[in-house]
Amino acid sequence: MRKTLLICAAALVSFSANAWAQEAEEPVAPYVQSDANAGAQPITDPAVLAAFNGREGIQRISNRTIELALADPQLGPIFQPFDMVRLRRTLNEHFCYLLGGGCTYTGRDMRTSHADMGVQTRDFNLLVRHLRTAMVEEGVPYRMQNRFLAVLAPMHPDVVQR
Ligand code: HEM
Repeated sequence: MRKTLLICAAALVSFSANAWAQEAEEPVAPYVQSDANAGAQPITDPAVLAAFNGREGIQRISNRTIELALADPQLGPIFQPFDMVRLRRTLNEHFCYLLGGGCTYTGRDMRTSHADMGVQTRDFNLLVRHLRTAMVEEGVPYRMQNRFLAVLAPMHPDVVQR
């Protein structure tokens, strides 16, 4: 009985350590956290949040956008060297904050996040296309997709390298 308990405890410890290791984020240089880092004011129309299927829909859309970007032959190599555990969390917060989901954005501002990455306009457009696909898969109506893209579009100069 004691042996069984010991084996169970060891299995639990190793399972938790594994789960923690999978979710652990790499440290980043210190920065001031603020919703202002999101780079735009949130949409306050509850119809938009509803069209995105609330926080759960937003989470699916941000995760799917990252998944499509990683699988893209042009964008994948840009994303791969970075911490996708962190990006899954911060991109979800970003979208959730901007879509009026009531989240706090704890990531860096758009200029700092994309500095020295060499992102070009065609990369920006490709990412928008993947975001469109993710929104279509979630069933977000075209008009509502455009409401969100109109908030993101002015971020272009901060994301793209000149
Ligand atoms: C409107 C367009 C975009 C938005 C709203 C956006 C948003 C974000 C956000 C919120 C973060 C997280 C910052 C943090 O964790 O502190 C981030 C990081 C990142 N973005 Fe974007 N992004 C956009 C375009 C792009 C494009 C076009 C690319 C590449 C083709 C890109 C590549 C990345 C990468 C690789 C990171 C991780 C940086 C790091 O961990 O240091 N992003 N982006």
